[in-house]
Formats: sequence, C-alpha cells, structure tokens
Amino acid sequence: MATLNLFSVFIIYFAIVLRFVNSQGLEVGFYKKTCPNVEKIVKKAVVDYVSIAPTLAAPLLRMHFHDCFVRGCDGSVLLNSTKSNQAEKDAIANLSLRGFQVIDAAKSALEKQCLGVVSCADILALVARDAVSLINGPTWQVPLGRRDGRVSILSEATTNLPTPFDNFTTLKTRFGSLGLSVKDLVVLSGGHTLGVSHCFSFGSRMYNFTGKGDMDPNMDQKYIAQLKTKCKPNDVTTTVEMDPGSFKTFDTDYYNLVSKRRGLFVSDATLLTNKQTKDYVLAQLSSRGSTFFEDFGVSMVNMGKIGVLTDKSGEIRKKCAFIN
Ligand code: HEM
Ligand SMILES: *[C@@H]1O[C@H](CO)[C@@H](O)[C@H](O)[C@H]1NC(C)=O
Ligand SMILES: *[C@@H]1O[C@H](CO)[C@@H](O)[C@H](O)[C@H]1NC(C)=O
Ligand SMILES: *[C@@H]1O[C@H](CO)[C@@H](O)[C@H](O)[C@H]1NC(C)=O
Ligand SMILES: *[C@@H]1O[C@H](CO)[C@@H](O)[C@H](O)[C@H]1NC(C)=O
Repeated sequence: MATLNLFSVFIIYFAIVLRFVNSQGLEVGFYKKTCPNVEKIVKKAVVDYVSIAPTLAAPLLRMHFHDCFVRGCDGSVLLNSTKSNQAEKDAIANLSLRGFQVIDAAKSALEKQCLGVVSCADILALVARDAVSLINGPTWQVPLGRRDGRVSILSEATTNLPTPFDNFTTLKTRFGSLGLSVKDLVVLSGGHTLGVSHCFSFGSRMYNFTGKGDMDPNMDQKYIAQLKTKCKPNDVTTTVEMDPGSFKTFDTDYYNLVSKRRGLFVSDATLLTNKQTKDYVLAQLSSRGSTFFEDFGVSMVNMGKIGVLTDKSGEIRKKCAFIN
C-alpha cells in the first residue's frame, strides 16, 4: 500500500513537471528534424520585402507584440474575420498593422518544403527577430514550437492591448498579468525607435490634454509646437516618425527622446515617473545604450512565451489567415 502510494505520488509529480515543461516548452531548434531550413526560409522572405521597403520592419515587429498580448502568441492576429466573427484584424483600421504579405510569403515557402509543420505563430516570432536585425538591430535565438490558435476576437484586441494613454501603474499591471516585468516594459518600449504614429495616438497631448484646450505639461513644449505644424486638431490621417531622422533604423535613440520628454505617447513619458524605468532610460543614455540591444533580445524571448499553445493544443494552420 505504501509503495503504491509512493508510486502514485511519483506519477502525479512527473505529470505536473511534464505539464509545466510543455506549457513553456518552446525550444531553439524545435524544427531541427522536421523542417531544418525553417530559419533560412523565413529570413529570405523578410529580406525580400524589407530590403526593398525598410519601413515594413516596424509593423512586422509590432505584429508579434500584438499577437502575444491578445490570447498569447498563437497567430490569432493573422486570422481574417468571418461572417459570424469579427477578428482581431478588424481593429486594423485603428491599429494600423501591415506587412501580412511577408508572413504569407514565408508561410507558402515553408509549405513547399515542410508541409503542415511550421506554425504561423512561430513565423511571427522569427519575422520580428529578422526584421529588427536587418535594420541594424540586435539578433537573438528564438525558441520555437508554438502552435496556432483557432480563435480571434476583435473586442479582445481593444481591451488587452496597452493604449498610448496608459499610465505607469496600468502598464505595469498589463505587462505583469502576462508574466512580463517592469524591465521588460522599459526595454520593449524601446521598439518605438522604429516606425510612425498617427497624430491621433498623441493628439490630446498637443491640443486638449485635460479637456480645457491645454497641452501635456510632461511633454517638451517646443516639441509640441513642432508637432502641431504636422498634426492639425482631430487629424486622423497624418503620421509622424516616432524617432525623427532614424525611424527606419533600430538604435538607442528612443531613450534619448524619452529623457528629453519627446516620447510621443503618454505611455512613453510615463517611463520617467517610476524610479526603475527612469534609471534604465538614463543608464542607456549615459552608456550610449550599452545594454539595450542585449536586453531587447532577452525581453523579446520573454514576450514570445506569453500564453503559447504547445504539444497537442491548437493546430498548424495551412494558411495563416484561416483556421484549418
Ligand atoms: C508599452 C506599451 C505600448 C504602447 C501603449 C504602444 C503604443 C503604440 C502606438 C499608439 C503606436 C502608433 C500606432 C499608430 O498611431 O499608427 C505604436 C507603434 C509602434 N509600436 Fe508600440 N506600443 C507599446 C509597446 C510596443 C512594443 C512592446 C513593441 C515591440 C517590441 C512596439 C512596437 C511598435 C512599433 C515598431 C511601432 C511602429 C509601427 C509602424 O510604423 O507601423 N510597441 N505603438
Ligand atoms: C484577409 O483579410 C485581409 C485584410 O484584413 C484582406 O486584405 C485579404 O484579402 C483577406 N484574405 C482573404 C483570402 O479573404
Ligand atoms: C476604432 O476606434 C473607435 C474610437 O476609439 C471605436 O469607436 C471603433 O469601434 C474602433 N473600431 C474598431 C474596428 O476597433
Ligand atoms: C492610472 O490610470 C488608471 C486608469 O485610467 C487610473 O484608475 C489610476 O488612477 C491612474 N493612476 C495614476 C497613478 O495616475
Ligand atoms: C476638448 O475636450 C473637451 C472635453 O472632452 C471637449 O468638450 C472639447 O470639445 C474639446 N475641444 C476640442 C478643440 O476638441
């Protein structure tokens, strides 16, 4: 009886350990046997597009972020809507994601060599890495083995993604609930060294901060004056570079901008309101970003683990825009 009990304790113990390993069970080289050229094939698709249109790198990085923050990194950001369901993609008009053709190109090249093997969620993680490294950013090893989800719901994108108006407490809570730290927050925000933003994402900081026609006192007032020449009140079409002059290059300028109170969003400015994040911003300045590149790879790997489907859950989609 005692042996039997001990035996069942062991079984339960191993079941728990296995489950834990599986839920985080991504590994570098996951497709070593089943699709050995996966990284080459994905990289070729990224190079084909991004070397011609470097501005695509930014939305490709952002796409993996959005995928991971809504239902975990399960490729749900790629699913098209159906008649009965409005998918995350429907938030596109508002969220201005683009670059889906790069994912589709990678997927169809992969299907030719390894039919039904590589998930769209993994493609997103690799594409984000390759896009960043192609425009002078760091590179890192991407643990793989995610599977694709079968669900995508518009309203989840609206409620789960951080907004540009979030304060530090809200951001910390949002990141924390997904297993990301305050350090991940300040490091990943450095992705805003790339790309553009619509005026409406920070319009109230220039024109109507507290509803009295005022400006955000936490933004460089001279910078606001410059931005106002580009963004008219209630402008919904114009975009501005987030890191003016080098928005197509991955570098450490973001921390420079934030420290000068020239980050575009309240969520950027808010990094100066907490000691840990402020210290990080200033440390990257004084050391010319000495740890940012390395930190970014680490935090991207952390982000890539959010809510992943592994093992037998989910599926490997045939086409990234549709469930099988
Ligand atoms: C901390 C919370 C974050 C907030 C509130 C936020 C918010 C935003 C907003 C409002 C835009 C501009 C959208 C537009 O007006 O068109 C934007 C753009 C962008 N974000 Fe974030 N973001 C956050 C975190 C991240 C993370 C973690 C990454 C990636 C690591 C990222 C990468 C980007 C990139 C690359 C762009 C430019 C996209 C383009 O040029 O098309 N952001 N973000
Ligand atoms: C999927 O949706 C995108 C836009 O969200 C659209 O451009 C594309 O044509 C759709 N694909 C199919 C096959 O319906
Ligand atoms: C876009 O944003 C507006 C204003 O926040 C909101 O009313 C609308 O429902 C959003 N549309 C989608 C498709 O998310
Ligand atoms: C942060 O924003 C939330 C939600 O808007 C609000 O409830 C909270 O009071 C704010 N916190 C601070 C410190 O301003
Ligand atoms: C500023 O905000 C207030 C309160 O939300 C609103 O009543 C007013 O119309 C806004 N002014 C402009 C110029 O948008």
